[in-house]
Amino acid sequence: MIVAPSILAANFANLAHDVVMVNNSQADWFHLDVMDGVFVPNISFGMPVIKSIHKIATKPLDVHLMIVDPDRYIKTFKECGAHVLSVHFEACTHLHRTVGAIKAEGMLAGVAINPHTPIHLLEDIIADVDLVCMMSVNPGFGGQKFIENTYRKISELKNLIIKRKTKTLIEIDGGVDFENYKKLKKAGADVLVAGNTVFSASNPTDAIKKLKS
Ligand code: DX5
Ligand code: ZN
Repeated sequence: MIVAPSILAANFANLAHDVVMVNNSQADWFHLDVMDGVFVPNISFGMPVIKSIHKIATKPLDVHLMIVDPDRYIKTFKECGAHVLSVHFEACTHLHRTVGAIKAEGMLAGVAINPHTPIHLLEDIIADVDLVCMMSVNPGFGGQKFIENTYRKISELKNLIIKRKTKTLIEIDGGVDFENYKKLKKAGADVLVAGNTVFSASNPTDAIKKLKS
């Protein structure tokens, strides 16, 4: 199980402290949410912040783009240090081309899907995708309530991955907590993103350890 703390919930006034905490924890990746205020009703952070995190992070950067027309910035995010780059299914007209462009830059290609997007729409792209970021909340904000329908979608996606014999990772993003993390693992999740569950904990390092267990 890969655990990716979401920096959106970190203390932006002292980011280095939280980055070092993740470096020294059992976490596997950094999850970085880029929001443009157009695709989602919120604006988070962009390239300069990711570059700065990359300078001190000792673990791979999993960058989740919640932006329209992400093709414009694929090369830029590679230069910022992204290891995994996820674009939204709903934001890409030529998704096959976009996924190809991400891989051509040497990154793992992720496709994020909103809660209303059905799994069967991934049938003709799954073979090319390294990771599906399944949104278990509506993207835009941290600290939202987990949507229960996600479990059903995970098993559907798992079946599709098995049927197509791909190595695609299933990432769950939004509302992951100590109530649901075990059930999510059982359902077939490979990567758990956790923002508030980690950074609002009295001991974030222990919270990460628990999610890994
Ligand atoms: C939501 C973001 C998530 C968010 C998760 O739009 O994509 O990555 O940071 O935060 P929590 O774990 O607090 O729901
Ligand atoms: Zn995210």
